Order: sequence, then structure tokens, then C-alpha cells
Amino acid sequence: MPSTETRPATSENVRRLEPSATIAVSSLAKELQAQGSDIINLSAGEPDFPTPRFIAEAAMAAIQAGRTRYTPAAGLPALREAIAAALARRHGADVAASGVVVSAGAKQALFNALFVLVGPGDRVLVPVPYWTSYPEIVQLARAEWVPVQGPAERGYRVGPEELEAAWDESVRAVILNSPSNPSGAVYRVEELESIARWARDRGVWVISDEIYDRLCYLGGPAPGLLDLPGDLLERAVVINGASKAYAMTGWRIGYSYCDPAVAETMAALQSHTTSNAATPSQYAALAAFTATAEQETELDAMLAEFRARRDLVVDRLNERLPGTDHVAPEGAFYLFFRADRWYHEGRPDSVALCTHLIQQAGVALVPGSAFGDDRYLRLSFAASRAELEEAFDRMARSLGR
Ligand SMILES: Cc1ncc(COP(=O)(O)O)c(C=O)c1O
Repeated sequence: MPSTETRPATSENVRRLEPSATIAVSSLAKELQAQGSDIINLSAGEPDFPTPRFIAEAAMAAIQAGRTRYTPAAGLPALREAIAAALARRHGADVAASGVVVSAGAKQALFNALFVLVGPGDRVLVPVPYWTSYPEIVQLARAEWVPVQGPAERGYRVGPEELEAAWDESVRAVILNSPSNPSGAVYRVEELESIARWARDRGVWVISDEIYDRLCYLGGPAPGLLDLPGDLLERAVVINGASKAYAMTGWRIGYSYCDPAVAETMAALQSHTTSNAATPSQYAALAAFTATAEQETELDAMLAEFRARRDLVVDRLNERLPGTDHVAPEGAFYLFFRADRWYHEGRPDSVALCTHLIQQAGVALVPGSAFGDDRYLRLSFAASRAELEEAFDRMARSLGR
């Protein structure tokens, strides 16, 4: 995208819009791959597994049965019911299907939530490191985002103290993401509760992105907002979807769950933007969210493989690049490790180091600057164990330790 000065007359809405900071590095990786270079790509934000067969077959059956028309904007009633039932089962909570809005990916659900809840003059607290789209979506809603950092020894998880220090009357929402992309940190239920109490007392919305909740290595799914008492959830929006846990990134199915009156406004917004999430994808998601015990085993096998890879990358980091600080990856499929000791005058930041690693070691990672912390790099372990082993061999050779 041209710089702001040379950009043709676009509106105030997109004045601060920036393309994803990861694009330059991933384009370089693709370019070198196209030229025949052997690049191990550990920059992906998606599972490397195919969508489970039973899910794909449900979409094919829907297409063959002619279920290819518009659905209600908020989604197929049966899918909203299935999502509500799955949430109720998981959290032992009362969950109304009327609070569920099905969207084209969790990303659209986040956009709906922020666009509906915040606007000019509002501020949104965003814990650092953050998923790269949060600040951009807040700005598209013409609100301001405020970075908030928790202590390193707590995996940068924020608590009421840090949120309170960043608070003023204009703060309308905080975005939580657990398990976190990029750090893999997982909030404990008591931590969520203390944040929700603080937010309730301050009249702040909690938007909780739980897209990686099933991919948790602490035993069982990660705690979520719906594990908390109902009186803390009046201003809560849960964001989730099918992309990560069901290996369905390309199907574009996400959802939000919140107060039904707010959900209605989100559905109205969506009715004027994308209408509804793609209908065959909704049938696929229906199969995913109503999986039988046997089908769940297939999903659990994916989780077991991610856990084995998580163990492998942490071991290799400690063996091959000893003394490298990192956030303990308790969920998701990323290792966020500190890399600034390899910076120097000619290679001053995370983008420069990532460029070096692609060119000299043939390993593609994502610079920490994309997530608000330039000291770090993100390695995705959504790749085979052989590729991960080879990547650490190459990095150890290239970084000279
Ligand atoms: C934290 C987080 N939230 C949301 C999304 C978007 O998910 P979807 O592909 O369902 O839009 C991603 C995808 O990378 C993510 O990492």
C-alpha cells in the first residue's frame, strides 16, 4: 500500500489503516520459495491439518441437497442452537441461542463487536503482545487503542492493576485473548474473574477472543468468560469459531456470543455488510459443533500432535539456542521467544532478523513488531516435527549458538 502521503484521496475511515506488518516478510518467503529456495515456513497462523472428513462431507451433502441460498444474517437457527448448546455444555452456563451471531470468521465477529460497541472518542485497552488485527479493527471503528502490558514473569498477562493504570473515563472496552496469539499464554479462571470484576465496576466491555480455547495444554480447554458467574457477564462478548480447533480456516466460520439485544445489532450490521456466512460452510460448522464422541477423537488427535510439537519446540529452543527467554506456550500453536540479543547495528530489529533468517537460514518466522513487541519473534509450530527439528538446526547454525 502506498504511504499515507501518496495514497489517493481515501476517507477518514481508513486514514490510519496499515497492511499487516507480516506481509513484507511472508512475501519474501514466498518469492524465495518460488525461485526454488528451500524455505521452512513457520509463519503460518493456521493448522497444517486438513479439515476432518466428516465436516467436509457435511458441506458436500448440503450443496448436493441444494442448501445454497441465503440464511438469516445471524446464521442458521440450527447452527446458533448448536453453538449455544456446545457453550452451555462446556461451561455449565445458561447460553441463549439468540445471543449467538455466526460470522465469516472470528475476524468478522470481532469487527462486528468493536464496530457496534465503540466509536469516535472511545478508547479500547489492548494487552501487549496482541494479535495484529486488534488495533486496526479498533481504528476502523474510529476509536483509539491503548497498549497495556502485564509483567514478563506472568507471560505478559494483564490484571486489574495494569488495566486500572491505563483507564480513564473514555475507556469502553478491553480485548482479552486467551490462549494468546502470539504468546500462547493462558489466563487462569481467577485472573479472568478479577478482570471481569474490575470491568464491571468500571462499566467496561470485555471482548474475549477464545478462538484457541480447545488448543490448550494445561489439561482440558482453556478457561473462558462463560466460566464466570453470570452477574459479571452483562458487558461481555465471547468470540470464537471453527477456524483453529477444527482446521477450518478457509471455511470462514466464527461467532460472537453476548447479550441478545447487542447480538441483534451485530446481526443488523452484518446484514448490510456480508449478509450471512457462506451457507455450505455453516452446514460444515454444524457438523463440527455437533460432533459425536467418535468424531471428537479425531479432533483430540490433532490436539495431541500439537502438544507433542509444543514440547519439541520448547526443548529445542532450550538445547539449540540456550538462554533464550520465551513465554511458556500453554495454548495455541506459537512459540514467542526473545531475539533482541541477536540484533546489532546492521540488523536492528525483528523485521531485519526475520529477513536474515529467511535469506541465510531458510526459516520464515514472524517479527514481534507485528504483535507490538519488537524484541520477540513468533514461531508457529503448525508444521511437521521433521520441519521443526530442521528449522532449529538451521537457526542454531545461523545465529551461532
Ligand atoms: C487471536 C485470533 N483471533 C482471531 C483470528 C481470526 O480467526 P478467523 O480465521 O476465524 O477469522 C485469528 C487468526 O489468526 C487469531 O489468531
